[in-house]
Amino acid sequence: MSRIGILLIVLGGLAVLAAIGVGTAWLAVRRRRSRYAWFFLGMLILPLAVLALLPARDPVPVGAGGEVLVEVRGLRKWFPVQKGFIANLLSRGHTDYVKAVDDVSFTIKRGEVLGLAGESGSGKSTVGRLVLRLLDPTEGEVVVDGVDLARLDKENLRVYRHKMQVVFQDPLASLNPRMTVGQAIEHPAQIHLPDTTPEERKRLVFELLDAVGMSPPDFFYSKYPHQVSGGQRQRIVLARALITQPDLIVADEPIASADVSVQALLLELMIKLKDEFDLTYLFITHDLATTKYICDRIGIMYLGKIVEIGPLQEVFENPQHPYTRALLSAVPVPDPRHRRTEPLPTGEIPNPINPPPGCNFHPRCPIAAAGVCDGELPSLRPVPGSEDHLVSCHLRTGDHTHLDPARTGGPSA
Ligand SMILES: Nc1ncnc2c1ncn2[C@@H]1O[C@H](COP(=O)(O)OP(=O)(O)O)[C@@H](O)[C@H]1O
Ligand code: SF4
Ligand SMILES: [Mg+2]
Repeated sequence: MSRIGILLIVLGGLAVLAAIGVGTAWLAVRRRRSRYAWFFLGMLILPLAVLALLPARDPVPVGAGGEVLVEVRGLRKWFPVQKGFIANLLSRGHTDYVKAVDDVSFTIKRGEVLGLAGESGSGKSTVGRLVLRLLDPTEGEVVVDGVDLARLDKENLRVYRHKMQVVFQDPLASLNPRMTVGQAIEHPAQIHLPDTTPEERKRLVFELLDAVGMSPPDFFYSKYPHQVSGGQRQRIVLARALITQPDLIVADEPIASADVSVQALLLELMIKLKDEFDLTYLFITHDLATTKYICDRIGIMYLGKIVEIGPLQEVFENPQHPYTRALLSAVPVPDPRHRRTEPLPTGEIPNPINPPPGCNFHPRCPIAAAGVCDGELPSLRPVPGSEDHLVSCHLRTGDHTHLDPARTGGPSA
């Protein structure tokens, strides 16, 4: 039962006791019987004793203020597959799971932009939702500013959430069509900054409209979402995210729905806001090309796992995982003489309910080694000569590097 539910029951009980107390007091006065008076006294003392024994509410944690803002450890999210009656009967009650996120770990330093890239369905958005605690993990921990989010009760999590905000792909879907721009931006402040006056909040909204390039602010303040352009709507969503003064913004495909000409402007704006408001971003995208303008580090996801992670420049210049290499070779280069150097992975991303054994990527991998890649699960390990560039591939690290075609002169990937 929630803390509020318990509190209501206790308060209800105390109210009944108080009513009995008042009733007996009245009887004591009317009939002049001292035992009524004793009973009255008991009824008065009992509620006070219960109130004194009520456990004090946990304070909202302040945060450690350390260098690492987000730490994700061994995160898993398995969604149970809903089955019909017949299918359930045939499978004898066995539950299948979509392994959307399967043992993911990473850190994000304060002020850093970590990109998460990969094909659709690789688990990027689920990681974002887990970090924001919009979803409960099946396993693993998310620690934000030194606080393990699992240890917060619902009420404290609600208060703590002002430190984390989200920007989704489709701004039209995330804005209430019946709220004006001003109301939409102010709304989170009414919840998370209850001590502010309406005048202070309005001033804050004007400042934020100005910061996201919606000038003059009073022109946009009373407009409705459908009366502004798609790019401007995303600027409004960014302003709304900023009003609670968050430390972390999870941006899930924030520019994907904008026109190409607007995408660059939005990226520019996000970089400006990051510096101006001391933000940290988890930047989720299926488009590797955009990451190089904004990310400091990049993690490549495939079928619920991070297969490569490291400083952006290092991963772009020296990609190790065959999947990263293929994704990078698909990034368009504005040079007609440029030819694709790596083959793109063939076939669809496999079913996350029954991922392939061994390395998940082996059915699509151009250099998979039979007997190794289809049997053993590789783990994320440092690329030789680098501490913060990690890859999950038997042929790039560990005991099987002698099978790497790049060493043996075979086809590289
Ligand atoms: N609520 C859910 N219930 C069941 N499966 C889900 C749910 N959310 C996501 N999935 C599945 O988890 C996998 C990863 O999804 P998602 O995190 O949205 O990937 P991405 O953002 O990389 O496209 C997909 O196979 C998707 O169908
Ligand atoms: S472990 Fe094997 S299958 Fe997986 S990426 Fe490396 S070479 Fe390819
Ligand atoms: Mg997604």
